[in-house]
Amino acid sequence: MKPINVGLLGIGTVGGGTFTVLKRNEEEITRRAGRPIRITRVADRDLELARRVAGDGVALTDDAFAVVSDPDIDIVIELIGGYTVAKELVLQAIDNGKHVVTANKALLAVHGTEIFEAAQKKGVMVAFEAAVAGGIPIIKALREGLSANRIDWLAGIINGTTNYILSEMRDKGLPFADVLKEAQALGYAEADPTTDIGGFDAAHKATLMASIAFGIPVQFDKCHVEGLVGLESVDIRYAERLGYRIKLLGIARRREHGVELRVHPTLVPAKSLIANVEGPMNAVLVHGDAVGPTLYYGQGAGAEPTGSAVIADLVDVTRLHTADPEHRVPHLAFQPDQMADQPVLPIEEAETACYLRMRVADQPGALADITRILADNQISIDAMLQREPDEGEDQTDIIILTHRSIEGRINDAVLKIEQLPVVVGKLTRLRLEDLDK
Ligand code: NDP
Ligand code: HSE
Repeated sequence: MKPINVGLLGIGTVGGGTFTVLKRNEEEITRRAGRPIRITRVADRDLELARRVAGDGVALTDDAFAVVSDPDIDIVIELIGGYTVAKELVLQAIDNGKHVVTANKALLAVHGTEIFEAAQKKGVMVAFEAAVAGGIPIIKALREGLSANRIDWLAGIINGTTNYILSEMRDKGLPFADVLKEAQALGYAEADPTTDIGGFDAAHKATLMASIAFGIPVQFDKCHVEGLVGLESVDIRYAERLGYRIKLLGIARRREHGVELRVHPTLVPAKSLIANVEGPMNAVLVHGDAVGPTLYYGQGAGAEPTGSAVIADLVDVTRLHTADPEHRVPHLAFQPDQMADQPVLPIEEAETACYLRMRVADQPGALADITRILADNQISIDAMLQREPDEGEDQTDIIILTHRSIEGRINDAVLKIEQLPVVVGKLTRLRLEDLDK
């Protein structure tokens, strides 16, 4: 059968992995797709690198626009990254009637609405399995496998760099800055690690998953983002003593009047499966009303794991290439005219349990003042820990775990507690999720 022709834009880490796996498993992939999938053109700024990876037999160019306008190309894979050239290339490919496969979560989380609308108008597919959690087929699971369900919530470790940093901080008791340097030396964290440690990469992925889970437009600008900056090893240790681990989670939760969408360091029960996802691994927990909790685990990055997801999309697009556009799976799982207008709620309306750490003067009545403020704000205490003051020390740490409460109430209580004369400095506040319902 006639091969389907693919143009690859960017043959770096993921592009290289995609090329290698497609070649290695060509026969198996053809048996699945029903026809051969051939990368016939590769564009990369570095032609030497492209030649080394792709070898002879593939047309190479440093002009990616020449590939998206090539009439012989059926599918364009965008693996350049970023928002500028990548966006132009994707929109031009769509305009030229080509299907697009991309791993570019940043692009889709910010410009997804425009890109999916353009694809819808042209009757082409934009597939993005590789954009969330690398090799884990979470987009497929959310979009198709769980389509019977009303999704209640999802929570994921969706950034390998930060999960590696948190695992090392806990294992070795090292401070954040030291572990970050180690992660950079090992190649997990970029030279400029802002996107990862600032939580933005996880927020891009959480935004995409929320859209597919709830059928809402892609709204990265509404996602509440807190990264690892400022997280102290002492909190990892106290959390451990209370039976919790700290993970950077991307969370999307359906509420009565809207949807919560947030990324932040989160205490999760140490015995839960997700708490035991260590190093650079990823995992996503999805709760559906019919299926209950489901968990997806695997490598969230890397050449071949991410290439695996890119190729799964190539196979899907190849199979559906000749199908009527209305018979294809919608980009965001729900039919475009059935998207919900549920708002993304402001973080003040989020409902979470909390971990509060405060330094207080070790004197009678200190705790009573604090608990009174919590009670006045209708915040109920779940557990408490007080550090034994060292010999001669007149201050101590108090750690309080609260039950679920509205974030706005916690904010108010934190401000009032910080104003108490017995409290020294600022409180440390982290969110806590039991992830059991
Ligand atoms: P790389 O930087 O390794 O590869 C990108 C390649 O594209 C480089 O060879 C680069 O060349 C080339 N390139 C850049 N601009 C152009 C251009 N204008 N025309 C032609 N080629 C160009 O990136 P990755 O493979 O790591 O990432 C690709 C995408 O996949 C990104 O969107 C990323 O977020 C996503 N992703 C990456 C994962 C990973 O594990 N790395 C996992 C999941 C998603 P040069 O080096 O000269 O700039
Ligand atoms: N920087 C990302 C991570 C790569 O650390 O998980 C995969 O998207």
